[in-house]
Amino acid sequence: MNLRPDSTSSLVSPRINTHQLAADAPLKLGIMASGSGSNFEAVAQAIADGQLNAQIQVLIYNNPSAKVASKAADRGVEAVLLNHRAYKSRESFDQEIVNTLQEYDVDWLILAGWMRVVTSVLIDAFPQRIINIHPSLLPSFKGIHAVEQALDAGVKITGCTVHLVCLEVDSGPILMQAAVPILPDDTAETLHARIQVQEHRILPQAIALAATRQGEILRGVGV
Ligand code: GAR
Repeated sequence: MNLRPDSTSSLVSPRINTHQLAADAPLKLGIMASGSGSNFEAVAQAIADGQLNAQIQVLIYNNPSAKVASKAADRGVEAVLLNHRAYKSRESFDQEIVNTLQEYDVDWLILAGWMRVVTSVLIDAFPQRIINIHPSLLPSFKGIHAVEQALDAGVKITGCTVHLVCLEVDSGPILMQAAVPILPDDTAETLHARIQVQEHRILPQAIALAATRQGEILRGVGV
């Protein structure tokens, strides 16, 4: 018996017809990232390919050595380093972020591997307009090391989630999810790599979905 699941198979929900997602005017995105920036790249590429009607106004990153900075430079996107270590509190850090996002005229904020807890200072400045990508099928495996948590729990399917951000960590309304089977010999690295393939697929679509359904979201109808 072959116990090896098809490693390429995945389930994405909801399925989106991208032609239904064209925004009237380009969405003005701010992206925040702490790491390698593959999700930043995915959003930038979806824009370049005409699959997402948006422009990236600014990248904010918090680690001086984050690889995402050079990816922004390659794409001609302005990048601002705001190092959280230089601020006395999470709130004062977030206030500086808000000031920067407003300076760059950002409408929608995308947390693409932003490894900091955000406060009400940020959330209140962009009500229902902050989107996060997380490497698990929420509400399972919130917080850090989500991929390792899934492996440790012995689940057979995990994945990724794009959701709106609320004050409670990794808990806002879910926009889109993709399932990824766990293979018998998976490590955190191999599994995370396959999850990221799906992240890159659903993040741009979920941004478009959120913008398209903004009226419903603001009325509390759900997504
Ligand atoms: C992504 O896998 C994202 O889901 C995760 O960080 C990675 C960033 O990768 N985010 C979190 O864990 C947030 N809790 P990237 O820098 O290559 O886009």
